[in-house]
Amino acid sequence: MTVDINEVGTTAFVIACFRAMEREHPQPLFEDPYAEWFVTDQAMGMARQLATAVPESTSMLRFRTRYFNRFVQREIAEGARQVVSLGAGLDMRAHIFAAPGVTHYEVDQGPVVEYKHGVLREHGVTPSSSVPHNYLEVDLPEKLAEAGFDRNARTAIVWEGNTMYLPTHTIFPFLNSLCGGISSFRIAFDYFAEDLEERNFERQEDLERIEAVERAMGASFPTGFQDLSVFEAETPLKVLESGPIGDLGEAYGTDDIAENMAEDEGLRIYQYCVLGTR
Ligand SMILES: C[S@@+](CC[C@H](N)C(=O)[O-])C[C@H]1O[C@@H](n2cnc3c(N)ncnc32)[C@H](O)[C@@H]1O
Repeated sequence: MTVDINEVGTTAFVIACFRAMEREHPQPLFEDPYAEWFVTDQAMGMARQLATAVPESTSMLRFRTRYFNRFVQREIAEGARQVVSLGAGLDMRAHIFAAPGVTHYEVDQGPVVEYKHGVLREHGVTPSSSVPHNYLEVDLPEKLAEAGFDRNARTAIVWEGNTMYLPTHTIFPFLNSLCGGISSFRIAFDYFAEDLEERNFERQEDLERIEAVERAMGASFPTGFQDLSVFEAETPLKVLESGPIGDLGEAYGTDDIAENMAEDEGLRIYQYCVLGTR
């Protein structure tokens, strides 16, 4: 399939490769039977480069996937009737966590959506409702509503593997536009807890690790947040949950990995957060 996918879109294929590799793990943290459909030689080469340059990235991506899976499961169990995946890439949660009375919406750049839908159709799988737009350039609640989204139904939003790629100045206006157009939602995202514009890292090795990830992913990370209180200052949202992704290993029963990671101060730079309407 020939679709013109840009650097940030290409990162979705790298993440799909990591999900596809989970099957080989002796203690898988999740199942994604669809991921292998999206594995390409180029993306697998990038995934291997990342795993070699920054070995901890494999565990981080495993924990992150499990974390966002749990978020979706928990939100649905607590009454969310809609799940929106922002920058969904090749994530297949819409199918994996399909549930009666719950509608999933996927948002990504047009070429990524086109590619994904083509692959799914080749395998006889019906794609979920999609909004094929750069979400920073449209009125997203409006575009979602055009796809059938109910602005007043409780909504879970997954924003996985996205914030670091976005221009910093776009983050709060975007979140405020969601608050203006969706009455009740929780949004979960991962982020780097450093100022990636200035890059004045206290420890040079932490900066080098971030730059190695950027090189392997073929895209840069302009945005990080040193202090989550800015989200409460700049938007009507409240911080409901946050912490280092590396710390999740203990809860997920991978104590051996977790122990090694807990000793690595530099990994605390990669964090998760859930914000919610008050
Ligand atoms: C690192 S991938 C993550 C994909 C998926 N969320 C996952 O974790 O597997 C980033 C994805 O976000 C999408 N993306 C980034 N910025 C976007 C934007 N402004 N509008 C739409 N999609 C965006 C990219 O096209 C890409 O598919």
